Amino acid sequence: MVIIIRRATRSQIPEIVNYVMASRAKIFPGQDQAVIPDLARFQETYIEHPDGCFLTAHGEDGQIVAAIGYLAYDPRFPQLDLGHERVVEVVRLYVNPSWRRAGLASRLFAELMRHAHEAGIGRLYLHTHPHLPGAIRFWERQGFAILDVQETTRWGSVVHMSRLSSPSPSASLAVDFVPNAGIPKPNGSFAVNHQQIKGF
Ligand SMILES: CC(C)(COP(=O)(O)OP(=O)(O)OC[C@H]1O[C@@H](n2cnc3c(N)ncnc32)[C@H](O)[C@@H]1OP(=O)(O)O)[C@@H](O)C(=O)NCCC(=O)NCCS
Repeated sequence: MVIIIRRATRSQIPEIVNYVMASRAKIFPGQDQAVIPDLARFQETYIEHPDGCFLTAHGEDGQIVAAIGYLAYDPRFPQLDLGHERVVEVVRLYVNPSWRRAGLASRLFAELMRHAHEAGIGRLYLHTHPHLPGAIRFWERQGFAILDVQETTRWGSVVHMSRLSSPSPSASLAVDFVPNAGIPKPNGSFAVNHQQIKGF
């Protein structure tokens, strides 16, 4: 199965907003379904802003099967020491259930970090929640360390994590990919469309 990773363009905004809102409703049921501010200002936040980026992964039918983005960090957590580097916040990581545990989120994150590093971003911040299966483990596997745990919200704790940006290994990916196979297979096809990523 060929998976194409693309950097978001203006024409994709409605499709991406629908995908993220639908995915979010599944993992945070009962939450307000109004379009969230970063999505409502998608173009300014992720396409035009120098500290913004959004990637989607598409299956062979062109449908989005996963997404991830980063945006300029809003320094709203005074307890966190994020240093003096340029900081972005990693957000909106979702992988469709049938594509999980096959390396797709890892591949998306590698692409995102490659972009961040090329853009001169120094540090990546995110927060997550223990009720999301595998999320903390996933981020630890991507090199994030826990900075703080807040026991505050209706979703239980908020786990704040961060890591320095670094160059990702070259993404000349003919990484083999089979949904839910868990183990990459030889001669598979998990391609990154570099033209799309670089030339938006
Ligand atoms: C968390 C999520 C993004 C992982 O996506 P994925 O494509 O399955 O992740 P990968 O296949 O790249 O996983 C890489 C590693 O992360 C860890 N990991 C991922 N999912 C895990 C899970 N459910 N349980 C335990 N560890 C997990 C494993 O160490 C895995 O390596 P392995 O499969 O060789 O053991 C996906 O489950 C998802 O979309 N969940 C719902 C949304 C969400 O929680 N987003 C994160 C919000 S911060």
